[in-house]
Amino acid sequence: YGTIGIIGAMEEEIELLLQHLTEAQTERHAGMTYHKGLFQGRKVVITQSGVGKVNAAVCTQVLVDRFGVDAIIFTGVAGAVDPKLNIGDIVVSTSSLQHDVDVTALGFPRGTIPYQEVSEYPSDEHLRNLAKEAADKVYPGRCLTGKVLSGDQFIADRGVVKSLYEDLGGACTEMEGAAVAQACYMNGIPHVIIRSMSDRADGSAHENFEEFTVEASNRSFAIVKEMVQAL
Ligand code: ADE
Repeated sequence: YGTIGIIGAMEEEIELLLQHLTEAQTERHAGMTYHKGLFQGRKVVITQSGVGKVNAAVCTQVLVDRFGVDAIIFTGVAGAVDPKLNIGDIVVSTSSLQHDVDVTALGFPRGTIPYQEVSEYPSDEHLRNLAKEAADKVYPGRCLTGKVLSGDQFIADRGVVKSLYEDLGGACTEMEGAAVAQACYMNGIPHVIIRSMSDRADGSAHENFEEFTVEASNRSFAIVKEMVQAL
């Protein structure tokens, strides 16, 4: 890989990355700040996309067009969907899907974007394996690989979690990953999503999210750091 793009949605999710960036230079595009420099001796561009799928997609396209990134890593927090996951645990994406795409009224399955060859975007196998190895090293026994479900919704309801798990087979839910994955797919760029659980997307999600977002963000960072070293 030449240059790696690293995206987080919120400040907490990129804070430690920026602290470890050397020879940093910044540029602004589309309302976002892009931090170019060296991280673990590798050329990277680190950026905070903001929350939600549109921000994530625009951010990804800027990384591709203006910075020529060769791969993208998404780092951050998510709500746990798989009941095996505890707060703090990690999900490395095998694929991702937009759970809020709903054209079921026209007969398309939930999550399917009409007239498109794919709606579920696999992560890059090599990046995924490196992320999983890094997670197993840094937090042994705390990492699952699985499907990341993204939507422009903060999920805080047990019933919704049940359907995300049973109907869509999700491991966790967040608000950007599948948009990054789709934009990467459209550009032929490999990607992987790494998420640490800040909450269980249930009735306690807002309290847990406030309490655990910093710790979960820092865990995701620790894995990215370990992983980039191995690239
Ligand atoms: N990110 C962290 N927790 C989340 C939740 N419960 N829903 C959506 N995005 C999240």
